[in-house]
Amino acid sequence: MENNREIERKIELLNKKKDEAQQGGGKDRIEAQHKRGKLTARERLDLLLDKGSFTEMDMLAHHHSTSFGLDKTVVLGDGVVTGYGNVNSKSIFTFSQDFTVLGGSLAEQHGRKIVKIMEMALKNGMPVIGINDSGGARVQEGVISLGAYADIFLQNTLASGVIPQISLIMGPCAGGAVYSPAITDFVIMVKDTSYMFVTGPKVVKTVTHEDLTPEELGGASIHSTKSGVAHFVAENDLEAIDIVKNLLEYIPSNNAESAPFKETADPIDRESPDLNYIVPANPNQPYDIKNVIKEVADDGEFLEVHQDYAENIVVGFIHLGGMSIGVVANQPMILAGVLDNEASRKAARFIRFCDAFNIPLLTFEDVPGFMPGREQEWGGIIANGAKLLYAYCEATVPKITVITRKAYGGAYDVMSSKHIRGDFNFAWPTAEIAVMGAKGAIEIIFKKQVDEADNKVDKMIELEDEYNERFANPYIAASYGYIDDIFEPTFTRQRLIDSFNLLKNKVDNNPPKKHGNIPL
Ligand code: HXC
Repeated sequence: MENNREIERKIELLNKKKDEAQQGGGKDRIEAQHKRGKLTARERLDLLLDKGSFTEMDMLAHHHSTSFGLDKTVVLGDGVVTGYGNVNSKSIFTFSQDFTVLGGSLAEQHGRKIVKIMEMALKNGMPVIGINDSGGARVQEGVISLGAYADIFLQNTLASGVIPQISLIMGPCAGGAVYSPAITDFVIMVKDTSYMFVTGPKVVKTVTHEDLTPEELGGASIHSTKSGVAHFVAENDLEAIDIVKNLLEYIPSNNAESAPFKETADPIDRESPDLNYIVPANPNQPYDIKNVIKEVADDGEFLEVHQDYAENIVVGFIHLGGMSIGVVANQPMILAGVLDNEASRKAARFIRFCDAFNIPLLTFEDVPGFMPGREQEWGGIIANGAKLLYAYCEATVPKITVITRKAYGGAYDVMSSKHIRGDFNFAWPTAEIAVMGAKGAIEIIFKKQVDEADNKVDKMIELEDEYNERFANPYIAASYGYIDDIFEPTFTRQRLIDSFNLLKNKVDNNPPKKHGNIPL
């Protein structure tokens, strides 16, 4: 009897401690969190994970610091909830920072908890989903906090390319803390309640005299349009979590797994008669490449990544006959689909993600070339364009290209051409494959004839027509086998599915090396 009571007392103590840990920073701070339009760390996990699937780890961990009165604020869990569970039946590890506990600040135990789940995720080949909402390094724990961050950065780097890492930014993320999400594969920010910057507005004002709000300096809109740090923007916490769930439908749990297959009722041989007429007769007239992507995709679904950044190139995921596919497409609607610094970097990073995680690549090409000009040259278009070229060259996943219209100059080579290991290179009859457009070409090779002509304008038109007739088509490239086939656009979906199916067991390797030296 006495023995049972003793055991009950022990169980009671355990339950009390666990209950205490669940309360985080307490009722008032939870209310304050809600007033800011944010959910708590645990509410976010409830939404993310399948019901009843979460197992918490290190719930009873706490700091051991006495610095600056910290011994009076010991909260079980130390400001971060960590553990594992399922998202739509896929096993993941996760951490969720609790802003109600010391502002979600990160120090020894908080950092150790995150490192622990990251190490386990890496060993077991499971994705890590990090929910960030933190005032950064816990000031009171000093250099130990900095060390804890560095421990996380190392794990982020070791896990890169082995397991997918997704960062949700749902509050502040400042100082060196930003470098953890920055190393991960995808960053999702929430509008109005999240921000990321290396140096906050106050320091910025002192150093550069710029007066900026946190939103102006590093809010979701800035990072999704100007810096490209954020891959997705959500209206609120709920929408951000839905993006994670959607993303996980396209990516495997680790780099040894195949990309996930998703059953579809969308017929494999569905034709797309509208695609036959989508490319305007006038080469200077745009059309929306996203309509092409959605038309060929299973059920018209396209998860676009970096939707508002470098819009002249479009990247994202679709399923094709159930297979998960990464799409890269020039966008004629924006800057005629030209490749510039941002577009090159954006696409290169996406290609490398897909290649690291066995996701085949589909390229839709309609590109007038690389963007000329001082701004681009000074901005490093040589190095940035080389990143894109390098990414395509080193990618060993199945690669299929469809040239819908323009494939001019170096951009022809770069956009997954046959020469850089494109497995299938297709063209629509509307394709124009040449060193450059007619106008530029005439000025170089027929300058003398034009200058000597009685009517220069008529001569230009005559030569341009002749050039277009001879070069602005896919037939010369096809005659050399650089293009494997030219087909009617209406059959694109079926041709792509058949071809990707054929490439299912493709094996291709790069020479053994420690790592390449991509022109960063
Ligand atoms: C300890 C912190 C903290 C921190 C916030 N808190 N940040 N405690 N270390 N870094 C505490 C606050 O003292 C407060 O405690 C509670 O969290 C909530 O913070 P508030 O300031 O009341 O909230 P809010 O007004 O919403 O402002 C949030 C904030 C602000 C903008 C994040 O707290 C802030 O500026 N914090 C400092 C940010 C920062 O400079 N961090 C270091 C970045 S450098 P009480 O008990 O009063 O409620 C860095 C280096 C990483 O992180 C290095 C990696 C290499």
